Amino acid sequence: MTDISSRKADHIELALQSEHQSQQGAGFDHVRFEPNPLPQMALDDIDLSSDFLGSKISSPFLIGAMTGGCENGELINRHLAQAAQACNIPMALGSQRAAIELGLPQKLRSWAPQAILLGNIGATQLQTQGMDLAQRAIDSIEANALVIHLNPLQELIQPNGDRDWRLVLEAIQNCASTLSVPVIVKEVGAGIGPASAKRLVDAGVQWIEVAGRGGTNWASIELARNNSTRECEIAAPFLDWGMDTAELLPAVHAACPQLMLIGAGGLRHGLDIARCIRLGAHITALAQPFLKPALESTDAVIDKIAILQEQLRWSMFLTGSQNLIQLKVAPLQTE
Ligand SMILES: Cc1cc2nc3c(=O)[nH]c(=O)nc-3n(C[C@H](O)[C@H](O)[C@H](O)COP(=O)(O)O)c2cc1C
Repeated sequence: MTDISSRKADHIELALQSEHQSQQGAGFDHVRFEPNPLPQMALDDIDLSSDFLGSKISSPFLIGAMTGGCENGELINRHLAQAAQACNIPMALGSQRAAIELGLPQKLRSWAPQAILLGNIGATQLQTQGMDLAQRAIDSIEANALVIHLNPLQELIQPNGDRDWRLVLEAIQNCASTLSVPVIVKEVGAGIGPASAKRLVDAGVQWIEVAGRGGTNWASIELARNNSTRECEIAAPFLDWGMDTAELLPAVHAACPQLMLIGAGGLRHGLDIARCIRLGAHITALAQPFLKPALESTDAVIDKIAILQEQLRWSMFLTGSQNLIQLKVAPLQTE
């Protein structure tokens, strides 16, 4: 196994352990809908459908970015892609860097011919390897959009992580103005706040996946992989670095009302999806909750998607929202 593949395999193993999930949650407990005991509709009348990048999708969530290239990455990706295709929900690929560098075949498009697929590259790789890498990531899976991930804390803790971030914004701006597909910028669990969102909008970015604090904790995962006592001591105060997803969404929405938001980071069920939509997200993304089913089978992923859809449907029924437009304005409890 190469260094990148073994790192990815470690990530999968550690992400499944509850100690590397935030214990505080993403702040969703404070987002409480006013119960509506008079839904005045049948559960079956509820329409979960949404649109994303010009296509209709069955429900407002996507499979968040996880694997690109590692030993069991192909199996995970096949299960996720086939489920995405069967359920008509989008799928984001994990970093494609390893697959591209190792020349691994990327069969995503053959498993999900019609699904919306999102390519993925780290911002620092883009900075050094430029548009060629971005274009290869897109072409290899006929991606509908390119996701660029920002993970400065993870890179600081990761042994040999990237510490030179001088030209990241310029690289993103270049992608946004040159590529033929939309660019989506995401974090990995610390969040993109209003000030950074404004800079990204000025750089031409139209989509942001906030990926706030409250779910998979990458500082904790990288600390578990780092054998240097000194580096662990330096990193310790940053274990809870970031902004909760429930706090981020309204703040970014208020600062950049025209920006399309993907609510992500710590969503664990369909009620969290409903809360993110209410807080201003256009759609949402869940990563870690799909990991266990993805290691099992395509059917297990399809089952997970159906459960999330049913939980979202219940949330909409219990708030009297027949569609997502109504859910966006469903009354919240005032504290
Ligand atoms: C096993 C695993 C691998 C991940 N790899 C990537 C990656 O390669 N690129 C990326 O942008 N995000 C990656 N992420 C981050 C997720 O896309 C997401 O932003 C983060 O885990 C927070 O969401 P969650 O709480 O739903 O897991 C990964 C997450 C997991 C669980």
